[in-house]
Amino acid sequence: MSQPSKAPWWRSAVIYQVYIRSFADGSGDGVGDIAGIRSRLPYLKSLGVDAIWINPWFKSPQADHGYDVSDYRAIDELFGTVAEAEQLVAEAHRHGIRVVPDIVPNHTSDQHAWFRAALAAGPGSPERERYIFRPGLGPDGTLPPNNWVSEFGGPAWTRLPDGDWYLHLFAPEQPDLDWNHPDVHAEFEDVLRFWFGRGVDGFRVDVAHGLVKAPGLPDLTPRPDPVPGEPRRHVDHPHWDRDEVHDIFRAWRKVADEFPGDRCFVAEAWADTPERLAAYVRADTLHTAFNFDFLTASWDAEELRTVVDDSLAMLGAVGAPATWVLSNHDVVRHPSRYGRRGAGHWAGARYAPDGPLDPALGIRRARAAALLSLALPGSVYVYQGEELGLPEVEDLPESVRQDPMWERTGHTDPGRDGCRVPLPWSGQRTPFGFSPDDATAEPWLPQPASWHELTVEAQTGDPASVLELYRAALRLRRAHPALGDGTLAWLDTPPGVLAFRRDPGFVCVVNLSAAPYPLPGDSRVLLGSAPVEDGVLGTDHAVWLEIQDVQPSTP
Ligand code: NOJ
Repeated sequence: MSQPSKAPWWRSAVIYQVYIRSFADGSGDGVGDIAGIRSRLPYLKSLGVDAIWINPWFKSPQADHGYDVSDYRAIDELFGTVAEAEQLVAEAHRHGIRVVPDIVPNHTSDQHAWFRAALAAGPGSPERERYIFRPGLGPDGTLPPNNWVSEFGGPAWTRLPDGDWYLHLFAPEQPDLDWNHPDVHAEFEDVLRFWFGRGVDGFRVDVAHGLVKAPGLPDLTPRPDPVPGEPRRHVDHPHWDRDEVHDIFRAWRKVADEFPGDRCFVAEAWADTPERLAAYVRADTLHTAFNFDFLTASWDAEELRTVVDDSLAMLGAVGAPATWVLSNHDVVRHPSRYGRRGAGHWAGARYAPDGPLDPALGIRRARAAALLSLALPGSVYVYQGEELGLPEVEDLPESVRQDPMWERTGHTDPGRDGCRVPLPWSGQRTPFGFSPDDATAEPWLPQPASWHELTVEAQTGDPASVLELYRAALRLRRAHPALGDGTLAWLDTPPGVLAFRRDPGFVCVVNLSAAPYPLPGDSRVLLGSAPVEDGVLGTDHAVWLEIQDVQPSTP
């Protein structure tokens, strides 16, 4: 795996997201772990993925399920050991699968040695300079230093008994680091070397857009509402997407380049515009970035085409490949988003889907969306369970909810537990093969009883299943010279239908209109999201075609 190839793997890879707590439990404690991942490598190999991104596995009190790291050079005992992580990397490589862990540089855990030292050393100490401690406002300092709010609800500041306040853009257990401090740079570069030296192929960079805060930590001011129909604009923000953040990643790129083979960083960066996102993936910084514009787009042909065009144009301008993402561990699973009629499926509370669910509609569109994203130029992320067509679990009892967002929003936002329910592998009853037969504990979140229909075992060999659709699509994608990295040309179609050609000889058609769409006569169906009858593509269906002599539309 260490030889650099001509086109690096990450330009066209299918990267499977392993949410480690919920993927497979080897130890029987009801929580997924490294042993579980190792036991399922043959499954991932047969699915046909090129790499896995593993959500944080470092030592952590788990206040935000691993996104609160107390030791970046240790594996949490819930998940295993560093030795097991090394074994996993070696075994995955033997299966031809790359391994990309998740690094969390914006904040540590409040149990990290640095934060504990900062608390012990007191106000004004050098130990506090690695984080963002400030005195409060008002005569007694009882008001927070500014009006910033936590992403999980409530103020972004917590006051200590000694009077100082500290910043946490997420939970209070996740204090923000101060990236003006040289120790912070040195520490993370060393942590990268620690893991690259153990063979990992890259990192997913958590909250990449949040590391740099504006000098003086100015108050947030109201942001102008986007004007419908007008291009989005970048608006300066005191703690998101500040220009200076790129210097940090230029240094990280140099660290990655010290190691042989193609290592890859993927940025979790939320930016106002595609141009701003592209800045993260210029040639001397990170390699790729998640395409959240695609993930948040409505099931609407025009909107999707605009996202595709803008993404390819802006990323192409800096020489980076696009990525295509439908779901992850932070958002409502897409069969449940797409299963709501109209564009409103994303509106309202960020994690609470709107309106009544039509599950059949959701699956129909999810199958079509899979073929769309796997045919677009670039790399694709598959969130564990999307290959099984898992829906969001929207009826988790309040008593089992664990996401800090649920508590911190005063139970107004259900949080993200509904997309994190442990995977169903086999059998008729929970834990559906997620844990071994002699497990001592139930899965950490309850699985719906109906998931016996959705297990890997139940879907394997059923040509109508979502799993077999993904397997077939990944097989074709790997074999077909037109797919993966490259370009596309749109074909002339009526409103609501997306069709594009990729050379040589490949066309993808997605019908988002209400009317059936007749496929070109000189084509052969390679794969459909549903059977194609009488040469006609139904509503919310997609198809991959082998085709000769089609003319692209004018751009
Ligand atoms: C983004 C991660 O995807 C999310 O799960 C986490 O809660 C926040 N960053 C904070 O680290």
